[in-house]
Amino acid sequence: MPIPWLESYHANFVTTRTPVWKGQDLTATVVTGAAGFIGNMLAQDLAREDRSLCLIDDFSSGKNLSVDNRLQVNYCDIRKASDLDQVLPDEIDVVYHCAAQSSGEISFDDPWDDLTRHVHATFYLLAAAKQRSAERFVYTSSMAVYGEPLKLPIKETSPTNPKSFYGAGKLAAESYVRLFQSLGLPTVIVRPFSVYGASQDLGNLRQGMVSIFMSQLLRSGRISVKGSLERFRDFIHIDDVVRAFGTVLDSSVQGFGCHGDVFEIGTETATEVRTVLLLIKQLSQSTTNIEFGALPYRSNEVMSSYANDIFRKAFGWQAEIGLEQGLRSLIREYH
Ligand SMILES: NC(=O)c1ccc[n+]([C@@H]2O[C@H](COP(=O)([O-])OP(=O)(O)OC[C@H]3O[C@@H](n4cnc5c(N)ncnc54)[C@H](O)[C@@H]3O)[C@@H](O)[C@H]2O)c1
Repeated sequence: MPIPWLESYHANFVTTRTPVWKGQDLTATVVTGAAGFIGNMLAQDLAREDRSLCLIDDFSSGKNLSVDNRLQVNYCDIRKASDLDQVLPDEIDVVYHCAAQSSGEISFDDPWDDLTRHVHATFYLLAAAKQRSAERFVYTSSMAVYGEPLKLPIKETSPTNPKSFYGAGKLAAESYVRLFQSLGLPTVIVRPFSVYGASQDLGNLRQGMVSIFMSQLLRSGRISVKGSLERFRDFIHIDDVVRAFGTVLDSSVQGFGCHGDVFEIGTETATEVRTVLLLIKQLSQSTTNIEFGALPYRSNEVMSSYANDIFRKAFGWQAEIGLEQGLRSLIREYH
């Protein structure tokens, strides 16, 4: 069923196949996946700093929610080196690599496609960044690399046993990032936990727990939960994630920055799925009775996960938006 406000959002779609800076002498910050949820919010934030931006997406799932002409997104499938050469500027300051297939569940539909979107795409982008002597490369990995943790909170050094093709793809791509670091490309890997916020794709009912619940609530006033209500996650607001992307490059923090480090981006808080549902119900003041019709636990689903405090202690960065506050503003936006 179409959601009217979402349709009008998408009507503002801006895309181009002609790189905006071709022929100009610019050093640009590159954001891949810029038509997607995180990449788009990051690009909007970077645009406020008046940086030259090179925004890339193949629109396989991204819709580019931006209405700002400065935020034109170049069509490019990163898995094709020739496409990349067409759009990348000769000089690159930072690469924020956010493009990927982003759902654990969807990764089981076509594992090969998933692999190419993580490994091949990341390999070509790393090679292109190295060739252009990019100053910094930020790889957006995921908590999915851990699988089911043996100990909580999860640490960057915890064992990695992904339970989805998505998690395996992220982990494999991380290995290439590390290899290019050893070849002289300054890199950092971030592993966000469960990111939520306005402009998440409510049309996708298979990625993003909060957006799936919100979408079901808006469409039918009924929420069906896949898996156990006792699972818990670390829900982090998109604004905190975007701030973390800037913080992670802070070269004034001694010993950190783009030196091949890995950082988790989370709130250090475990929240049960049941709690999220109750909060959504309470904050939306829904008159319709929400059905917590739990479907069976799926064997490839992670039961528990939340981040540790290393990133906060190293950089002084801290998640500022609590779940209740984040959900409240989300509900205000959608209603
Ligand atoms: N959303 C979360 O909760 C979360 C958590 C941890 C990690 N991540 C990771 O963060 C990154 C961004 O996630 P998101 O939520 O914005 O996902 P998203 O699906 O909204 O955005 C990903 C974008 O990448 C684009 N893309 C896919 N393959 C491409 C290719 N070959 N070439 C060019 N563009 C391509 C898609 O069209 C889409 O716009 C992803 O790497 C995801 O795995 C997301």
